[in-house]
Amino acid sequence: MKRIIGTEEAIKRWDAFADTYSKTHTEQGDLHKEVLLNPTLFSLMGNVENTIVLDAGCGEGYLSRILSEFGASVTALDYSPRMIEIAKERTPEDLLIDYKQGNCENLNTIEDKSFDLIVSNMVIQDLANEEKAFQEMYRLLVDGGSFIFSILHPCFVTPECGWEKTDSGEKLHWNVDNYFYEGAYEQDLGDKEKMILFHRTLTSYINTIIQTGFVLESIVEPKPSIEMLKKYPSFEEDFRCADFIVFKLKK
Ligand SMILES: C[S@@+](CC[C@H](N)C(=O)[O-])C[C@H]1O[C@@H](n2cnc3c(N)ncnc32)[C@H](O)[C@@H]1O
Repeated sequence: MKRIIGTEEAIKRWDAFADTYSKTHTEQGDLHKEVLLNPTLFSLMGNVENTIVLDAGCGEGYLSRILSEFGASVTALDYSPRMIEIAKERTPEDLLIDYKQGNCENLNTIEDKSFDLIVSNMVIQDLANEEKAFQEMYRLLVDGGSFIFSILHPCFVTPECGWEKTDSGEKLHWNVDNYFYEGAYEQDLGDKEKMILFHRTLTSYINTIIQTGFVLESIVEPKPSIEMLKKYPSFEEDFRCADFIVFKLKK
């Protein structure tokens, strides 16, 4: 579990997985994003019209496209060249999104205080050096700017977790183990792809936020709305424990 791969290998894995990953994404992202993450992110962001936004780890770019349609001026950044290629292919000509290839842990080609808002959706748990990335996000924000990020909920999604089921497959409860392990672990994402994620405790995240200088403004553990439950009844189980946690920080 402790094996750590380098950035080159991590980029290769995301490149190889990019096409499969993108097939699960519509213009609202995948189902978990449509039901849980998007409503939370948009309520935390508020009105983005005329704001200068960085989508850090944009993937195939659905969130950048929505933000651009809402009137934000968007820079979309990812370290996987294939992800950026797909995001560009999916972007209509009238949306002026500035795509950049780059690593969230070192964005020294971008000037200080370039953005009003930085959003990073399901990326931070991919980073080997999240402290460096937080410092970069802090540097890139204007004074008073916001950094909003979502991650797998570290208290429930640990290197050893999953449903305890009866022999007939009925879900009894969600098991959690190895919460205090901090470091890399592999997770199956596609049929054959294994991705490297980094687990950290909630304490580590919050201490990193404080040490970077951010003010913690809000935390949300997303639950499905009544409307979303009507559309996707299987999300009822998301009332049992939280898959995600979303932070809003202020510089
Ligand atoms: C789970 S996907 C999320 C993509 C997108 N934010 C979304 O919500 O659909 C994680 C993305 O982060 C990118 N990524 C991971 N680590 C990165 C890093 N250090 N710098 C830039 N991009 C990174 C990956 O290439 C991948 O596209």
